Amino acid sequence: MERTFIAIKPDGVQRRLVGEVISRFEDKGFTLVGLKLMSVSRELAENHYDVHKGKPFFDGLVKFITSGPLVAMVWEGDGVVASARKMIGATNPLTAEPGTIRGDFAVSIGRNLIHGSDAVETAQREISLWFKEEELSAWEPSIMSWLV
Ligand code: TYD
Repeated sequence: MERTFIAIKPDGVQRRLVGEVISRFEDKGFTLVGLKLMSVSRELAENHYDVHKGKPFFDGLVKFITSGPLVAMVWEGDGVVASARKMIGATNPLTAEPGTIRGDFAVSIGRNLIHGSDAVETAQREISLWFKEEELSAWEPSIMSWLV
């Protein structure tokens, strides 16, 4: 089953949008298999954004990501990588469509609330970077099991 790495960045935590973001993924029907609130080391932030090393926004980005607690998650479901990217919206919140998370809640590219892996291979790399295997719980969604 396909999995993706989602992070609610420090601005999303500060703005009390954790529940809103989780609700959107639950309402869509994806399955939560990993979740933790954590402070991010400079090393982890630099590793995560490795591809942007040397770009003008890199230092500010790392400083922002390490500025306060972030919520790291793994979500599972058919086509979850591409679908999550659609739900999140364009990198620049001013061009993100209304109805997307960034389009509905953000205005600044440097404070765009949320990260989602951009491809299946990236998702695998990011999940193993942020989570230990034992921190992930695979479970079968069942409509009836909570009734009995
Ligand atoms: P990127 O991987 O291009 O976007 P996305 O998060 O949508 O996959 O960029 C990573 C983050 O870097 C982005 O979420 C916000 C920040 N960023 C800037 O601050 N300025 C920029 O010009 C770009 C391209 C990104």
